[in-house]
Amino acid sequence: MIIGVPKEIKTEEYRVAMTPVGVRELVAHGHRVLVEKDAGSGSFVADEAYTAVGGEIVSNAAEVFGGADMIVKVKEPQPAEIEMLEERHLLFTYLHLAAYPEEARGLLESKATAIAYETVELDNGALPLLAPMSEIAGRLAAQAGAHYLEKPNGGRGVLLGGVPGVPPGKVTVLGAGMAGRNAAMIAAGMGAEVTVLDLNVNPLRHLDELQWGNVRTVTSSKFAVEQFVADSDMVVGAVLIPGARAPVIVDEELVKRMRPGSVVVDISIDQGGCIATARETTHSDPVYEMHGVVHYAVGNIPGAVPNTATYALTNATLPYVVALADGVAGAVERRPELLGGVNVAGGAVANPAVADYLGVECVDARTALGL
Ligand SMILES: NC(=O)c1ccc[n+]([C@@H]2O[C@H](COP(=O)([O-])OP(=O)(O)OC[C@H]3O[C@@H](n4cnc5c(N)ncnc54)[C@H](O)[C@@H]3O)[C@@H](O)[C@H]2O)c1
Repeated sequence: MIIGVPKEIKTEEYRVAMTPVGVRELVAHGHRVLVEKDAGSGSFVADEAYTAVGGEIVSNAAEVFGGADMIVKVKEPQPAEIEMLEERHLLFTYLHLAAYPEEARGLLESKATAIAYETVELDNGALPLLAPMSEIAGRLAAQAGAHYLEKPNGGRGVLLGGVPGVPPGKVTVLGAGMAGRNAAMIAAGMGAEVTVLDLNVNPLRHLDELQWGNVRTVTSSKFAVEQFVADSDMVVGAVLIPGARAPVIVDEELVKRMRPGSVVVDISIDQGGCIATARETTHSDPVYEMHGVVHYAVGNIPGAVPNTATYALTNATLPYVVALADGVAGAVERRPELLGGVNVAGGAVANPAVADYLGVECVDARTALGL
């Protein structure tokens, strides 16, 4: 198969979907890999590093999409990329269709097969291709929140760790999954008083077993959300229902009740956001103020640390990329979790949560793949 790796074009996205390690592996499996010129430059991977292991550098995205059957990317395809997709293409990337309905329409029209990293789900509910980015986003969310709590950055001037004689800042994390747990860990490490809420007791139990003294766990409810959010210096939104739009659990009235200069970080913004007043922001313009509260809602948080994120992402995706390149039928036999990743194929939606959100019929993923 011919695999194509375009340069990411989402605003300030510096990750690349494949490192030379991946090219070497695919070439060893008898495949060809077309890499767009400078695709790795944002992550400090030179074109020569790809050619040294058998990759072929092409000069633009049109040559990648025109020459390759399988396209491997990081972020959801942008309009210019969707225009280049055809029925013959297999697209493997983050899609977040519940947050970007226009993208969903474009993908359906292209009739391409699109497998989303974020809905590849193991039997135990783990999301192996979302997890590494959620780990990074969670850790960065706590750092970013602490930064914007500083007075010169628009915040209420609270030092998360406090000092002897002055209590620490209060952080509420909504969602105890991969992103939430990592945000809690970093905030707790800074010395904040951290409360983590989740509907599911199992991730709360896991957090509790880690025994960080300054992290407490609370079963989520409207009452608990209202109680803890209103009394927080920083709120981190990190809830997820795979494939679906994020549930909005902090409404506008509750944001109004927060103290002036407090900070909300809505990590779930890539699934539409779980804080009513959050709208997607970018790394170059990451925050805005509403009702006196600083909002940080960057849609591609790990893009800020491409050196770490590119390797964390490709470590997780490479085995799946190789399996798909070797043949879709064999790939879903060996790794059935890929079936949950099939969001659209042949002009139909094949993921139940995505279909439900878009209000369209859902077809069986195997049928959609023609298996
Ligand atoms: N903005 C970014 O750059 C970025 C990067 C990575 C991940 N994310 C997003 O972060 C979000 C979290 O991802 P994750 O990997 O931690 O997911 P996860 O599945 O590991 O955890 C989500 C948690 O949310 C909980 N939950 C669901 N609905 C809830 C509700 N109504 N109230 C309380 N808890 C609820 C679930 O029980 C689960 O424990 C996702 O939307 C993901 O796409 C964003």
